[in-house]
Amino acid sequence: MKYKVADLALASQGKLKVEWAESRMPVLTTLRERFAKEKPLAGARIAGCLHVTKETAVLVRTLRAAGAEVSWSGCNPLSTQDDVAAALAAEDTSIYAWRGLSVEEFYWCIERTLDFKPTLTLDDGADLIFTVHHKHPELAAGIKGGTEETTTGVHRLRAMGEAGKLLYPVMAVNDSETKWDFDNVYGTGQSSIDGILRSTAILLAGKNFVVAGYGHCGRGAAMRARGMGALVYVTEVDPIQALKARLEGFQVLPMDEAAKVGDIFITATGVKDVLIGRHFASMKDGAVVCNTGHYDCEINIPDLEKLAASQREIRPNNDEYRMKDGRRIYLLARGRLVNLAAAEGHPSEVMDMSFANQVMGLIRLHREGPKLEKKVYVLSKEQDREIATLKLSTLGLLIDKLTPEQIAYQSDYAAGT
Ligand SMILES: NC(=O)c1ccc[n+]([C@@H]2O[C@H](COP(=O)([O-])OP(=O)(O)OC[C@H]3O[C@@H](n4cnc5c(N)ncnc54)[C@H](O)[C@@H]3O)[C@@H](O)[C@H]2O)c1
Repeated sequence: MKYKVADLALASQGKLKVEWAESRMPVLTTLRERFAKEKPLAGARIAGCLHVTKETAVLVRTLRAAGAEVSWSGCNPLSTQDDVAAALAAEDTSIYAWRGLSVEEFYWCIERTLDFKPTLTLDDGADLIFTVHHKHPELAAGIKGGTEETTTGVHRLRAMGEAGKLLYPVMAVNDSETKWDFDNVYGTGQSSIDGILRSTAILLAGKNFVVAGYGHCGRGAAMRARGMGALVYVTEVDPIQALKARLEGFQVLPMDEAAKVGDIFITATGVKDVLIGRHFASMKDGAVVCNTGHYDCEINIPDLEKLAASQREIRPNNDEYRMKDGRRIYLLARGRLVNLAAAEGHPSEVMDMSFANQVMGLIRLHREGPKLEKKVYVLSKEQDREIATLKLSTLGLLIDKLTPEQIAYQSDYAAGT
């Protein structure tokens, strides 16, 4: 059997979801039409480890149309949409993914995607590429390269590359402007609010909304929470990001202070232990805490458990911890990415550009991987501009062009006042 999913009977429901996503992803479907003829991925075997959502299914269909064989697993135990996984299995994709995996099952699924000896890997968070490096280094000789979708994965792979430990080249898809400045900002911003609302149904207007980390994702969450009428507080460790937040009109303060005033907390740092015991100890009764960073270590859940006298699930993706002093703290989606575990992840329209970058990165690695150094690369500026141009045209938007005189003026070092 080429797949293991929760329930194949969900396939028809999943197929509808994928069709809906497809109707909102014109860049990827345009590329698919082109690559279905050119087959630039013919002969490639791609192992993918990325959230199994309706948008991911559109990516998988595109990779297969471009000639690749694909084997897939989810990159988070709680983010797989079981109906989408079933739809992919039903259309003969090799896929090992279901929602609610144990850690052992999570790695078992990744291992299965390595059975067909991939020539390319695609990661979101680097768990697949780490499995190759740490457990199956013998596979690396046959792997031309890998792509990485998210900030946390890119940080770690860059560190590995600098330490000379990477066994093949990696494309940092995350770092393309058409990915990082859209997916992480507008995608995470909107979908994290969506996750908070689905799991709590609370009013955001008038709430003190604390965002930890004013990077790409944090900025998106802060911006959207303000749009819903919340009073936004930002915590940071980087003085420049903190200043940007302040001049954007947000209150900036350390977490020790924010913990006392927040009604809702969201972590978006990519760093562990952002919310720890002493923060939970000073929170108000009813505080809601969640995370949208890649791993579930930003909120120290063992600390929360130590302080709690009891715990119960009060709503789906919403656990109530009653403290020994009677206060209640609500943890969403068990500290996993709230937008994917409690909602559907990013809207299709932004994943359209992220996954166009994925496809272009994989094609480059399939063609040139063996000639590249074993380090982390970013996609070219031209690639980025091509994807943005395609997106603009699908939106029916036109922009101006520099005239030859303007181009000459830009580099004219004799011109002045
Ligand atoms: N939920 C999603 O769907 C989704 C989407 C994209 C990225 N991510 C993940 O979200 C995380 C953030 O990604 P990003 O692109 O915004 O990264 P980024 O580097 O742009 O921003 C992270 C920010 O957090 C700040 N920070 C670090 N440690 C901190 C701390 N202890 N307290 C307060 N601030 C701190 C940094 O100074 C930085 O400004 C990563 O783990 C990334 O992989 C999640």
